[in-house]
Amino acid sequence: MPAQSGIALSIVILAAGQGKRMKSDLPKVLQPLAGKPLLRHVIDTARQLQPESLHVVYGHGGERVREALATAGVSSWCLQAEQLGTGHAVQQALPALRDGDLVLILYGDVPLVSADTLRALVALAGPKTMSLLTVMLDDPTGYGRIVRDARGKVRRIVEQKDATVRERKIREGNTGVMVVPVKWLRRWLGKLKNSNAQGEYYLTDIIAMAVRDKVGVAPLVAPTGAEVLGVNDKLQLAELEAHYRAARARELMLAGVTVVDPARVDVRGTLRTGRDVFIDANVVFEGDVELGDRVHVGPNCVLRDCRIEHDVRVQSHCVIEEATVGPGSIIGPFARLRPGAALAAEVHIGNFVEVKNSSMAQGAKANHLAYVGDATVGARVNIGAGTIIANYDGANKHHTTIGDDAHTGSNSVLVAPITVGEGATIGAGSTVTRTVPPGKLTVARAKQLTLDGWKRPSKVRKP
Ligand code: UD1
Ligand code: MG
Repeated sequence: MPAQSGIALSIVILAAGQGKRMKSDLPKVLQPLAGKPLLRHVIDTARQLQPESLHVVYGHGGERVREALATAGVSSWCLQAEQLGTGHAVQQALPALRDGDLVLILYGDVPLVSADTLRALVALAGPKTMSLLTVMLDDPTGYGRIVRDARGKVRRIVEQKDATVRERKIREGNTGVMVVPVKWLRRWLGKLKNSNAQGEYYLTDIIAMAVRDKVGVAPLVAPTGAEVLGVNDKLQLAELEAHYRAARARELMLAGVTVVDPARVDVRGTLRTGRDVFIDANVVFEGDVELGDRVHVGPNCVLRDCRIEHDVRVQSHCVIEEATVGPGSIIGPFARLRPGAALAAEVHIGNFVEVKNSSMAQGAKANHLAYVGDATVGARVNIGAGTIIANYDGANKHHTTIGDDAHTGSNSVLVAPITVGEGATIGAGSTVTRTVPPGKLTVARAKQLTLDGWKRPSKVRKP
């Protein structure tokens, strides 16, 4: 995105910090928020600005971080082997930046900053103006404070540990996010000193340098505190998750979805919804999910990468993953649709039924306790209670085809590969291993017999 001034924009994300307070083996920037690494949130938002280039300064957890985000669209990874401060971190990216550009600096542990706010910040910067995102805080403890002069102009930033008692009373905090003309940034970073309370090269010291060099410093106060919250420990991680959850639930409700409890629905990906959708409590959406008009999702369901068409009722306790469900179908309670389940219209899947890599045509039913795997199931087929498709011989998976209107009896086993003809009926308790002809009753179980004159043994009396 060219800034308003027409200057090209690059982005640098600082992500080398260790995150000791997480007390975790997973590097801080890989800790998941809404199912996605913190750093990935920042990268995805950054990319919405269509920068000319995107650089990540990494250090702790080095290769692991790079690997986890290999497909995120980062132009260059800049190693900061030793964490000597935010100014030193930005220095590691300097060789990758062009003098004529503006650079937006983001933090890998401030995941919820919005693209709109960033655009507004970029618009304030120019060839001789830097811009700075600040935040008004009730409790600014830990933040760098924004020191303004009597006319309200920003003069410098003082870090908490270097601040006087008076400066600590300032409620305007530094978010760390800023936009700086690269040419000036290069000059200022070269002059940073680490003679401060933490012995670090502070990026924040460039503000005073800008003022000295008569480069404008344009502040922008963040519209909400939540979007600039940083994550340092698991407590803050949960707080941010709650903010994220609330924001997504709000979007859903504004789009017309009935959300029974906005604090108990998690959207960890993209969720597209039709009209009059209803979502009950404790539902988790992951990946890419689409719900058609009037879809009803009962409590305690997990839906991942799936498409649920109009008028489907997903009853409580269902897990649906990489599946499609046709209009008017009824799923659950307690059903599991696994990858490759493709259900046509008005299919019924009942309790304790698992469907994997199988298509089920219109009106097919499997209402109780069944496994349908690697099968093509015809229209109006009735899979009886306890039917198992034995698709796996211990080495390979095999396919099963069941013709339209066939019925499988309770507790039958269909040993794949096998074909069941149209309109066939399989007797209860059958184990079928060969083609089942259409239109007939096939029974494959031991014949029932009754022994006349049989006597139940009687107890032997001990002497
Ligand atoms: C920094 C700011 C402070 C601001 C606060 C907001 C400085 C000197 N201070 O303080 O004004 O209020 O953020 O949260 O900039 N990082 C590196 N390499 C380093 C050091 C840090 O990559 O050598 C990264 C961290 O991973 C993190 C970010 O920079 O993403 C901020 O570092 P952190 O140590 O949290 O800075 P603060 O002391 O909180
Ligand atoms: Mg911090």
